[in-house]
Amino acid sequence: MPIASQPVQDILHEVYHEMQPHIGEGKVADYIPALARIDPKKFGMAVVTAEGEVFTVGDAAEPFSIQSVSKVFTLTLALGRIGAGLWSRVGREPSGTAFNSIVQLEHEHGIPRNPFINAGAIVVADVLLAGHQPRETLGEILQFFRYLSGDDSVYIDEDVARSEQATGFRNAALANYMSAFGNIHNPVEKTLGVYYHQCSLAMSCEQLAKAGLFLANGGRNPVSGLTVVTRERARRINALMITCGHYDASGDFAFRVGLPGKSGVGGGILAIAPGKASIAVWSPGLNANGNSATGTRALELFAKKSGWSVF
Ligand code: DON
Repeated sequence: MPIASQPVQDILHEVYHEMQPHIGEGKVADYIPALARIDPKKFGMAVVTAEGEVFTVGDAAEPFSIQSVSKVFTLTLALGRIGAGLWSRVGREPSGTAFNSIVQLEHEHGIPRNPFINAGAIVVADVLLAGHQPRETLGEILQFFRYLSGDDSVYIDEDVARSEQATGFRNAALANYMSAFGNIHNPVEKTLGVYYHQCSLAMSCEQLAKAGLFLANGGRNPVSGLTVVTRERARRINALMITCGHYDASGDFAFRVGLPGKSGVGGGILAIAPGKASIAVWSPGLNANGNSATGTRALELFAKKSGWSVF
């Protein structure tokens, strides 16, 4: 049963209040120069309920770089494009390694463990590119985000994309290595171009929570009434989020928060409370696993107070 709207607002304000001493904790990602400049004191959180009600605190209206949170949505598009065929090119097991690790690819024939580690998301970008020009694929991705969030102001931050491109040596290594196994079908630079730009999407917590709402509601956006994916596919995307959405800290996130979630090095996390709400939090300081330190803490407290953990 969804809890009444007044408690959601109250809980959100309590969480905001209790997070104050923790705001600024963690370390802002600095391996992407454009992200190193972000104010670590930012904190925003938005909850959009399955009834479509929106609750926000702090910097919830300010756009930030969603980074790997984008991988949930490109996975959704790729499954729409090629369905279960995707699983011959990318696995669906937790990796137990860092988001940018290359080690498993050698023994596993260039097939990444899951679609959320960088290698897996690069394969997903390659599926979406499928012989098109990167700008066409990026147009499609951007349209999808605008459609889901109901907001045409969602944009791709070219500065961040350029910054990623200039320093993306690990991603280039991953893509070239997978190409050697025949698991990248387009020119590596084009696939990486799509990947860097999708990571550079700028969105606010409010826009992101709205975009994720279909996953909290069996695949259907309750505001527009439109079905985005089947109930079964929404369930499976949620399953991947809870098992793989926080890389080698996915177990810890499930233990502490107990919700399907996907993090990004911009400090954003999208969490899904099935049947109840879509929640987005942004706090740029990261923990040792590259996930938002205070964002995770805020979600842990919110899940505890709301009783929305899936466990
Ligand atoms: O490719 C990268 O390294 C970044 N564009 C995305 C990594 C990321 O967000 C990992 N998340 N915690």
